[in-house]
Amino acid sequence: MVSKKIAVLPGDGIGPEVCRQAVKVLEAVAERFDHHFALSSHLMGACAIEATGTPLPNETLAACRAADAVLLGAIGDPKYDHDPSAKVRPEQGLLRLRKELGLFANIRPVVAYDVLLAHSPLKKERIQGTDMVIFRELTGGIYFGEKGRTPDGEGAYDHCVYNRAEIRRIAHLAFQAAAGRRRHLTLVDKANVLETSRLWREEVREMAAQYPEVTVDYLFVDNAAMQIILNPTQFDVILTENMFGDIISDEASVIAGSMGLLPSASIGERVALFEPIHGSYPQAAGKGIANPIATILSVAMLLEHLDLIEEAALVREAVDEALHNGILTSELSPVAAYSTEEVGNYIAFWIADSKEKHWN
Ligand code: IPM
Ligand code: MN
Repeated sequence: MVSKKIAVLPGDGIGPEVCRQAVKVLEAVAERFDHHFALSSHLMGACAIEATGTPLPNETLAACRAADAVLLGAIGDPKYDHDPSAKVRPEQGLLRLRKELGLFANIRPVVAYDVLLAHSPLKKERIQGTDMVIFRELTGGIYFGEKGRTPDGEGAYDHCVYNRAEIRRIAHLAFQAAAGRRRHLTLVDKANVLETSRLWREEVREMAAQYPEVTVDYLFVDNAAMQIILNPTQFDVILTENMFGDIISDEASVIAGSMGLLPSASIGERVALFEPIHGSYPQAAGKGIANPIATILSVAMLLEHLDLIEEAALVREAVDEALHNGILTSELSPVAAYSTEEVGNYIAFWIADSKEKHWN
C-alpha cells in the first residue's frame, strides 16, 4: 500500500466535470490496489478570481507544494478574453503556478489510436502508426519575458528570452526520452529568424555528442506545422520552446481525432502537474458532453510519475477498452454519444472490476 497526497484543481468550464471522472478513476485505482490517495480540491483560474480576487490563491499554491502530485482540469473564461484591459486573468494563475513549481518541461504524447483512425479529419493512411511526444519548454520564452505598452501607448511588446541552462535542462529530458524510444529527436525552432532559436540550436547541437545513439533533426516551425499533418509518423520526440509547443500540440491533437484525448505532464524541480491539453471549453460546460479521457490519461501519467506502473497500465487498458467498445463522447461519436459521466463510469468500473479478470 502506498499513501500519496494529490491536489486537485478542477478550474473552470468543463474542468470540474472532467476532473470528477478522473478522481473517480483514481479512487477505483486506490481501491483495486489498496492504496490511499488523499485528494484535496483547490481553487484556481476564473473561479478563484470570483471567490478570492486572485487566480492563484496562496492556499492553493501551498497545497500544491505540499502534494506528491497535482491534477488540473482546465482554466479560462471568455469574459476575460473579451476584455483586453482586464488586469487579472485566469491564465495568470496557471502561468504563475508553472513558474512557482518550476515546471519547466511539458510532455505531450500524441498517438493515433487504430480504433479512432476514421474519426480524424486527416486521411487514415497518413496518420496510422503516429506515436510522437512533444517536449514543450514551459517556464520561459515569450510567455514570461517582459511585456508592456510603449510610452506613447501606440505599441506593445512581448520579449522572448532564453538562457542556456533553461534550454539544456529540458533538452536533456527530451534526449533521454528519445534514447528510450525510437532514438530520433527533432528540434522545432525558427533559427532562420530568431536569435533565441539560434541559441537553442547551438545548445542542442553541442549536447547531441552526449547522446550518440540519438539522431537529431532540425526543423523550422512553419515547416514543422506542415509536416505534422502531412507525415506525422516521421516524428518520435519533438523538442521546442514554449509558444511553438503550445501551437503545434493543438495542431497535433487533430491526428488523435480529438483534443479531448490528449493528456500532459508538466515536470520540473519537485512536484509535478498533470492536465489535459485542452482548455475550459465554456460552451460545453454543464452539458455532460466533454470528453474526460484526456484528464483520465493525465491520471495515467501521474501514476507513472509516482512509480505506480501497474496501476497506470490498468488505467490505459481501461481507456483502450472504452475506445474499442465505442464508449465515446459526442465529438467522436455524434450519433451514439455517451456522456462525460458514462465514459468515466465505464473506465472506473472496468478498473474496479479488473481484479477478477487479472486473476483468471
Ligand atoms: C495550454 C494552454 C495555456 C498555455 C493557456 C491556458 C495559458 O493553452 O496549457 O496549452 O498557453 O500554455
Ligand atoms: Mn494551449
